[in-house]
Amino acid sequence: MKIGIASDHGGFELKLLLKERLSKLNFTIIDFGNNSYEPDDDYPDYVIPLAQSVAKGEIERGIAVCGSGVGASIAANKVDGVRAALIHDHFAAHQGVEDDNVNILCLGGRVIGSETAMELVTTFLNAKFTYAERHIRRLQKIDSLR
Ligand code: RB5
Repeated sequence: MKIGIASDHGGFELKLLLKERLSKLNFTIIDFGNNSYEPDDDYPDYVIPLAQSVAKGEIERGIAVCGSGVGASIAANKVDGVRAALIHDHFAAHQGVEDDNVNILCLGGRVIGSETAMELVTTFLNAKFTYAERHIRRLQKIDSLR
C-alpha cells in the first residue's frame, strides 16, 4: 500500500519513528514534510499537500501528526475527498475506516506514546470500508454539503 505521512514540529519525532517502523512492514511511504525539525513550522504546510495527494488518489491513505492531532485534522478535512479523524483509541482506528471510510489518520505526537501510535496506525491501515448501504448513505449526506 502506498501511503503518505506529514507532521509539523509537534509531531516530528513520532513521524520519524512511524516512518521507520512502517518501512519495515513494506509500506511505500511518501513524506510530505517537514523534512527537518523546525520549532516554528506550521502544520498546514505539510498536512494540506498530504491531504491533496490522498484526494487525488496518488496515495491510498495518510497519517498526519501534529502536537495534539487537532490542527492536522482541521486542515486535512478542508480538502474535498478527505475524511480525516483524530483517533487515539483502537476501536475508532478500525471502525472509523469500516463505517466512515476515514482516509487520513491524525495523531497527537505530544499525546500518545510510540507503541500505541504504531498499533493505531497498523489497525487503521489494515481496516477496510464495508461499503454497507447505510454507511454510504451517511457519507453522501456529508458530501452533499459541498
Ligand atoms: C504546535 O505548537 C501545535 O499547536 C500543533 O502541533 C498542533 O498541536 C495543533 O493542533
